Amino acid sequence: MDRSVRWKVTAPYSSSMRLAHLILLLLYFHLSSSRSTPASGPPQEDLVEQKCLLRNYTHHSCNKVFCLPWQKCIEGTCICKLPYQCPKDGTPVCATNGRSYPTYCHQKSFECLHPEIKFSNNGTCTAEGKFNVSLIYGNTKREGIVQVKLVDQDEKMFICKNSWSMTEANVACLHLGYPQGARGIKRRFNIPISLRINDTECLHVRCRGVETSLAECTFTKRRTKTPHGLARVVCYTQDADFPTSQSFQCVNGKHIPQEKACDGVNDCGDQSDELCCKECRGTAFHCKSGVCIPNESKCNGEVDCITSEDESDCEEGRQRKIHKGLARSDQGGETEIETEETEMLTPDMNSEIKRIKSLLPKLSCGIKRNTHTRRKRVIGGKPAEMGEYPWQVAIKDSGKITCGGIYIGGCWILTAAHCVRPSRYHNYQVWTALLDWLKPNSELAVQRVSRVIVHEKYNGATYQNDIALIEMRKLPGKKECELPRSIPACVPWSPYLFQPNDSCIVSGWGREKGNQKVYSLRWGEVNLIGNCSQFYPGRYYEKEMQCAGTSDGSIDACKGDSGGPLVCNDINNVTYVWGIVSWGENCGQPEFPGVYTRVANYFDWISYHVGRSLVSQHNV
Ligand SMILES: *[C@@H]1O[C@H](CO)[C@@H](O)[C@H](O)[C@H]1NC(C)=O
Ligand SMILES: *[C@@H]1O[C@H](CO)[C@@H](O)[C@H](O)[C@H]1NC(C)=O
Ligand SMILES: *[C@@H]1O[C@H](CO)[C@@H](O)[C@H](O)[C@H]1NC(C)=O
Ligand SMILES: *[C@@H]1O[C@H](CO)[C@@H](O)[C@H](O)[C@H]1NC(C)=O
Ligand SMILES: *[C@@H]1O[C@H](CO)[C@@H](O)[C@H](O)[C@H]1NC(C)=O
Ligand SMILES: *[C@@H]1O[C@H](CO)[C@@H](O)[C@H](O)[C@H]1NC(C)=O
Ligand SMILES: *[C@@H]1O[C@H](CO)[C@@H](O)[C@H](O)[C@H]1NC(C)=O
Ligand SMILES: *[C@@H]1O[C@H](CO)[C@@H](O)[C@H](O)[C@H]1NC(C)=O
Repeated sequence: MDRSVRWKVTAPYSSSMRLAHLILLLLYFHLSSSRSTPASGPPQEDLVEQKCLLRNYTHHSCNKVFCLPWQKCIEGTCICKLPYQCPKDGTPVCATNGRSYPTYCHQKSFECLHPEIKFSNNGTCTAEGKFNVSLIYGNTKREGIVQVKLVDQDEKMFICKNSWSMTEANVACLHLGYPQGARGIKRRFNIPISLRINDTECLHVRCRGVETSLAECTFTKRRTKTPHGLARVVCYTQDADFPTSQSFQCVNGKHIPQEKACDGVNDCGDQSDELCCKECRGTAFHCKSGVCIPNESKCNGEVDCITSEDESDCEEGRQRKIHKGLARSDQGGETEIETEETEMLTPDMNSEIKRIKSLLPKLSCGIKRNTHTRRKRVIGGKPAEMGEYPWQVAIKDSGKITCGGIYIGGCWILTAAHCVRPSRYHNYQVWTALLDWLKPNSELAVQRVSRVIVHEKYNGATYQNDIALIEMRKLPGKKECELPRSIPACVPWSPYLFQPNDSCIVSGWGREKGNQKVYSLRWGEVNLIGNCSQFYPGRYYEKEMQCAGTSDGSIDACKGDSGGPLVCNDINNVTYVWGIVSWGENCGQPEFPGVYTRVANYFDWISYHVGRSLVSQHNV
């Protein structure tokens, strides 16, 4: 076994190699950008990633989507919060059990635990009628023209066809007791001539797609000159289904036409048709995390992609006006209609969700204070400047710096399991804000250690689960650890936050050529590598490990100590600790890239030990 532990290997790292690498890298970007213009669309089945489908992702999978504000994320699934965990700020709403709740979040959280109690109306409960949906003129009771009675209206109204899509139809069918939502919105029904409806008088409705009752959607009324046609629906039942080989099977068991997957529209109702996409159809927007969202969700003031890129590069004022967006058809046509005036008939609970989200506690991590730090675009080999890597720490064992570590908040340091032993905790010191350990800078702070937690499944022979936590000792009389120059890196909660070929940064006090010690903190840029089994057959565990390197191997984790950080920045320049320097062979050769512990795989393990609220950025 000639596997080398990182901090024992040398770093063959010369400036000529660096230059060669830079050229290669530029060449590679050039090639890849010219490659990425497909002549024609890929075959349809290619849009869906089969391996991802096996994981049965739905709108409750927090690896792929944000949970709703009345949910929290536990082990990859959005589960119900308790009502008291909702923000207090808000106005009362009424539910179908006739009870008032302090806020919409409180009601939805209660409903999450008791699904039969649904939203009824904004404001307190009144004796005036109830919201009601019914389908009429269908051949069976599961289909027909959609008729609604709003809470404060006496008469039943119809919905205009051009405001009706599968999103609204799914909510309507769910409301009517069809858990798999709608089957389609195209079937024609015979309306008796004697009951011909004046369809310049229909309602417009807009749902987000996560509602359980049509009463949560926003209804508006407009006077228009042209007739609209009326919304209709066939609700889905398993017995009336005829799946073909061309069907896409949703996680909820429903079959939809294959070409409806990855089009940005939540046809399944549980969103499972939009969560495993290599690309999206038509104008739908593709999140880096493999999720397709509707075009309208781009730059609408609310982050939908877990990787946030749907709200970046938005021109000022490009945010769509909700009222205008209300006119829509699922065919992409007839979006503009003659509008004279729009009257809101129900409150906008969609905006209310946005508002509640903005009230949820936010974690501060991964953002450097001095945002003006110049990032030198030189690849590797550069000494770090003060404040550039405020999460980087050094671990000193009996007077020697043996490993790196990453500050993740509170009193907690993340490092590699092979760096530490729980029984030796009193021998360790954590040095923060250290740049050069020959010329210690004034910002430097030394912390003593109170506890070391090594992953219980760490395997020193295979390097599986090479992850450990160090708890620093609080000063007497203090409730928190005080690390004035340190800023925690964010802990990634989803394996989809970063992708192969993303560029990330490794930093540390690794050794140079000839096993020479390096005294100053250095950093280098590396790319995430997708599947490393080809380089380390039988020894690479994809779920637990992450490879990173450069196409010519010129930059490697050799530069960094074991236990140190591989950090990646998201689109908002928020820094995540994506990897912990773990192992690798023959440093600096492209066929032996550096292997890192894949931190996202250990989010639950970390939050179990340090406390969920310390590391959860969302869905706490
Ligand atoms: C996904 O769903 C299928 C069908 O219900 C089931 O057989 C399979 O075990 C599920 N997979 C996971 C990872 O839950
Ligand atoms: C809704 O309206 C339908 C048709 O008018 C009626 O049969 C049903 O009882 C109503 N439901 C409620 C809850 O009022
Ligand atoms: C439909 O309703 C509008 C407004 O109430 C009215 O002006 C119009 O004459 C009606 N059209 C028909 C065909 O009844
Ligand atoms: C989708 O977005 C593109 C570019 O932002 C825009 O040109 C197009 O009209 C949009 N399509 C729809 C259906 O909103
Ligand atoms: C609900 O009603 C209250 C007044 O009762 C109002 O202040 C609030 O804005 C309404 N909420 C929404 C989402 O419209
Ligand atoms: C990453 O780069 C490799 C090699 O250049 C290329 O083959 C691969 O398709 C890229 N992967 C992605 C996800 O862009
Ligand atoms: C990774 O590579 C190995 C060997 O080259 C191959 O057997 C395996 O299927 C690949 N896995 C993925 C997910 O591509
Ligand atoms: C992120 O940082 C890069 C380089 O420092 C800068 O060019 C870019 O504008 C920043 N982006 C954001 C969203 O702050």
